[in-house]
Amino acid sequence: MCGIIGYIGNRNAAEVLVRGLHKLEYRGYDSAGICVFSKGHLDVIKTKGRLDKLEQRLSGTSLESTLGLGHTRWATHGEPNDINSHPHLSQNGKIAVVHNGIIENYRQIKEFLCDKGVEFQSETDTEVIAQLLAYHYKGDVMRALMTTLGELEGAYALGVMCADYPDEFFAARKDSPLIIGLGKGENFIASDIPAILEYTRDIIIMEDREIVHITRGQAKLYDLLGKTVKRGVFHVDWDAEAAEKGGYEHFMIKEISEEPRAVRAAISPRIRDGLIDTGLSALSDNWVRNIKKIHIIACGTAYHAGLVGKYAIEKVARIPVEADLASEFRYREPIVRKGDLAVVISQSGETLDTLMGLREARKRGAKILSIVNVVGSSIARESDAVIYTWAGPEISVCSTKAYNTQLAALFSLAYDLGFRKGKLSFAGMMAAAKSLLGLPELIEKVLLNREIIQKFSAQHFNAQSVFYIGRGIDFALSSEGSLKLKEISYIHSEAYAGGELKHGTIALIEKGTLVICPITQDNLLEKTLSNVREVKARGAVVMAVTPERLAGAVSDVADAVITIPDTDSIFAPIIAVTPLQLFAYYVSVMRGNDVDKPRNLAKSVTVE
Ligand code: M6R
Repeated sequence: MCGIIGYIGNRNAAEVLVRGLHKLEYRGYDSAGICVFSKGHLDVIKTKGRLDKLEQRLSGTSLESTLGLGHTRWATHGEPNDINSHPHLSQNGKIAVVHNGIIENYRQIKEFLCDKGVEFQSETDTEVIAQLLAYHYKGDVMRALMTTLGELEGAYALGVMCADYPDEFFAARKDSPLIIGLGKGENFIASDIPAILEYTRDIIIMEDREIVHITRGQAKLYDLLGKTVKRGVFHVDWDAEAAEKGGYEHFMIKEISEEPRAVRAAISPRIRDGLIDTGLSALSDNWVRNIKKIHIIACGTAYHAGLVGKYAIEKVARIPVEADLASEFRYREPIVRKGDLAVVISQSGETLDTLMGLREARKRGAKILSIVNVVGSSIARESDAVIYTWAGPEISVCSTKAYNTQLAALFSLAYDLGFRKGKLSFAGMMAAAKSLLGLPELIEKVLLNREIIQKFSAQHFNAQSVFYIGRGIDFALSSEGSLKLKEISYIHSEAYAGGELKHGTIALIEKGTLVICPITQDNLLEKTLSNVREVKARGAVVMAVTPERLAGAVSDVADAVITIPDTDSIFAPIIAVTPLQLFAYYVSVMRGNDVDKPRNLAKSVTVE
């Protein structure tokens, strides 16, 4: 959560910071602010609300500065208001700090500083960092920073300026993402690459417990003891336009439209000579053949992809799989043994709960295979092997193409594991590879039908409550459909396993309740149709999503049927999710919501 940016160079810092913050606003948008070095002191301008409010405040000011820090906030400590907004200044006005993360021992530090006579302005944990830095500062910021970081518990990506240092700034990270951008005569820090991509493509990805000292001419990395650290430069080869709306009204619809390309990019590099190879041999063939159990660890949409992955891996590779919400896994004393594989799924690669789940699994003896979109992210770096999903930047808070590509990776993994474990014939593997390669074209066909979904959305955008029901892999898919809808439409929605309805939930079905039902599995058709009949008998209106081959049977029972092209039933969720995403999208647009920045949410959840 929260986006930070820092700049030093020859451009107008305020302009660079605000442009960068626009690219980071998906990370949090409760409030925004900047601090620039101006006429010998630190000038802070910050406000509650979106960036346009900050821009209003800035218009009319003439901030002639070439050094500054910026922040866009997702509130954790203290409500979103002007005072709690970042940057935070120390009481003496010497130190300014922007922060992403949570300082767990901030109360103790605050008490300590209050006893020393420090007066706090805000309710934030971040102000504690600024005040503690000022307390330790005796003319050497680097030294004060090392001492301060040694006393902080929790997660941070920090940008730090000091009024006595007109030509430099500092940054540090632990468990929250931070990159350094290297320009010519100018340098940057940012929470994410798109913020600085219009200025430079040369990036250093900071590691945990590192400090960087940045001037116009260089960025020097240190560990927390002040020892120099050497790190390679990563050249970004994707286009800045990939992170722009490119003529679409919202990032979400742009990203849904990119699904065929993204899935193609996720699958095709893994198919060689007709066989699927996900790079598992990085873990050694023998080790892979002997995997006893798989633990899938993820949050939100990535977790829902993991639920589909559980079905696929158990079915194809016959290895027992447990799928856990990362936030639960960590604290439930999971039984993980040496020889187990943890599959950690994350679009951002920075979700703190997932990262902590990864560490917990490793501590307990598992090897880690991650399925990640953002190259070089923390989760990718801490894994034994990585399957990159190659979805390209996903900006909309509501995750779409990342899910399809996570499924592509999980299906590939299921077949790769199955083949290596001897559960699958050569012919079976070749057939699966062929089907996987055909999926992008099928998603393209679904996208051609978007108007039908738009019309259906127009009939239901005022719904009070929407249920998603499905059986087997369709239940996992329903969970994702329901999350999409509630996240951006703010309509109450739940997903239930079809067979579970009669154990309580069916009491909520009344005349006119909308029920959305993916029916993609031939072997569960009749059972699911019985569930559709049960809810229809109580007055529900049912929209089904089903492949062409089942459409006849389904349309006899459901009120509306969205057909998707036929494919092997195991792969159906990768196609069937698109209509569910489109439905949520159109409903959100029709309700006048901010589709890409839904209330109370942020893209990258780097706090617990
Ligand atoms: O970056 P990650 O995949 O680790 O993010 C996990 C969840 O926070 C994320 O999927 C979230 O649920 C989305 N907003 C759903 O659309």
